[in-house]
Amino acid sequence: MEFKTIEWLGNKVKIIDQTVLPFREEYLILQDYREVAFAIKEMKIRGAPAIGVIAGYGVALAAMESHNKKNIEEAIKVLGETRPTAYNLFYTLNRMKKILKNNGTSEDFIADAIAIHKEDREITEKIGENGAKLLKDEGRYMTICNAGALATGGIGTALAVFYKGKDRGKKMTIYVPETRPYLQGARLTAWELMKNGIKVVLIADGAKAFTLKTKKIDLVITGADRIACNGDTANKIGTYGLAISAKELNIPFYIAAPTTTFDPNIKTGDEIPIEERASDEVKNCRGEKIAPENVDVYNPAFDITPANLISGIITEKGIIRP
Ligand code: MRU
Repeated sequence: MEFKTIEWLGNKVKIIDQTVLPFREEYLILQDYREVAFAIKEMKIRGAPAIGVIAGYGVALAAMESHNKKNIEEAIKVLGETRPTAYNLFYTLNRMKKILKNNGTSEDFIADAIAIHKEDREITEKIGENGAKLLKDEGRYMTICNAGALATGGIGTALAVFYKGKDRGKKMTIYVPETRPYLQGARLTAWELMKNGIKVVLIADGAKAFTLKTKKIDLVITGADRIACNGDTANKIGTYGLAISAKELNIPFYIAAPTTTFDPNIKTGDEIPIEERASDEVKNCRGEKIAPENVDVYNPAFDITPANLISGIITEKGIIRP
C-alpha cells in the first residue's frame, strides 16, 4: 500500500485523516481514547474493520493512561457509543472486556490491540486471495463505498480482491459510485485504487443500475458492516439497491468481509442497528448548501441486503454460499 491507515507508535496511534482525502494526505496523532472516540465519530477513521482495530488501540491507551478498572471500563463505554452498526467495534471491545475480567495488565491490553491489528492484516490478505479466484482474466466490476485499505488494518475486503487479482496479472476496470452523502466512493475508493494502479471509472450514485447493464459488469463486490447469522448484511446505504439491480440483471453479487464482521448474537438483518446521521450531510455537499434550509431529511448511513440477494460471502476462511 502507498499509505498507512493506522500505525501504532508505542504510546499513541497515527491515522490518515480520511475527511481531507483526496485533496490532502494528512496524518493525525491520537494521544488517548477520547481522541480515538472523537476520530471515529467524526469519520476521520471509518470502515468496519478499521474501527475495530483503532478501538483496540483506544482501550490500550486508556490502560496505559491509568491502569484502573474504572478508567478502562469508561474507555470501553465511550468507544462503544461512537458508531452503532459496524460489528468489528464490538468484537474488539468484547475481547478487551475479557482481558479486564481476567485482571489483565496494561501490557495485555496493548498486546491484544496489536494482535487484532495483525490478525486483520492477515485476514484481508486471505480474503483477497479467496476472492481473486472469482475474477476473469479481463473484467469489469462494481463496488460501493470504500472497502479498501482505508477501511481496514490491511489491504481491504472488497478491494483486496482486486489487489490480489492485479497481482495475478488480471486486468480490470472498477466502476465506483460516488456514495453520497459522505462520498467514500468518489473521495476514498477512487483515490485508493488509482494510487495502487487500478483503473477506476467514477459514476454518479443514480447511474448504478444503468451502468451495470450498459457496461456489462461481470460481478459486484461490496464490504459489510455487520452480518447476521442468516447472511443478511448491513453495508453502506445504497448497497441494497445495488443488490436488487444486480439480481434483476443476473449479475453475481458478493460481499467480502472478515468473520469478525459476523454477529453471532443476531439471527436476521432486522436486528442490526442502523446508524442515522445528521441531516446536514444530505442538505450540504462538501460545505455547500444544496437544499432548502428547513427541509426534512432521512439519512440512514447503512442498509440491509437480504441474504437471498447475495451470491456468496468471501471471508478469510473461504467463500460461504447460500
Ligand atoms: O460509514 P463508513 O464509511 O464507516 O461505512 C463503511 C462501509 O460501509 C464499508 O463498506 C464497510 O465498513 C466495509 S469496510 C471493509
